[in-house]
Amino acid sequence: MSQITKTLFDEAQIAERVDALAVDIAQKLTGEFVIVGLLKGSFVFVADLVRALCRHGAKPRVEFMRLSSYGLERESSGEVHLLGDIPTDIAGREILLVDDIVDTGRSIAYARVLLEQREVGKLWICALIDKPSRREVDVAADFVGFTIDDLFIAGYGIDYAERYRYLPTIGVAEQ
Ligand code: IMP
Ligand code: MG
Repeated sequence: MSQITKTLFDEAQIAERVDALAVDIAQKLTGEFVIVGLLKGSFVFVADLVRALCRHGAKPRVEFMRLSSYGLERESSGEVHLLGDIPTDIAGREILLVDDIVDTGRSIAYARVLLEQREVGKLWICALIDKPSRREVDVAADFVGFTIDDLFIAGYGIDYAERYRYLPTIGVAEQ
């Protein structure tokens, strides 16, 4: 049975970083941009981020795209599947692609190609967590909440085998 052995980021730390990210994003994306959140992992982050962006004067549209690659495993299958798409009327729009974690980079790279095929405008990438030591595909996020080592984490929308998404904190998940 998996368990959370250590809290990495508590509620106050997460709230402070999300607010700082929103300040940075609101300064750089000044038009009517569209947030494209990747489900399921980004749902809590996006919910907090849009309200922080509102406090700092941004009024983004919100869409979600559902991808899957992990199943119930800790290691990515390496294959990304599109399970749910966004509406098609985003050509020319400035996009903020948001995910919970950039790990190997495959999910973000897949979503980026999909959006670029639809001829969106400038595309920015935002990740709450970056694990650069795990990267297999060349992607870099423009906005990063926390950079961490090769740890498997859960909480704040992020799951371990579909558990712990409800946690308000982010912790290290161990078997
Ligand atoms: P990537 O495609 O390998 O970059 O993986 C991205 C996705 O894998 C993230 O959106 C997460 O859903 C999942 N993931 C990566 N690392 C972790 C982790 O430490 N805990 C839980 N899910 C993770
Ligand atoms: Mg995910």
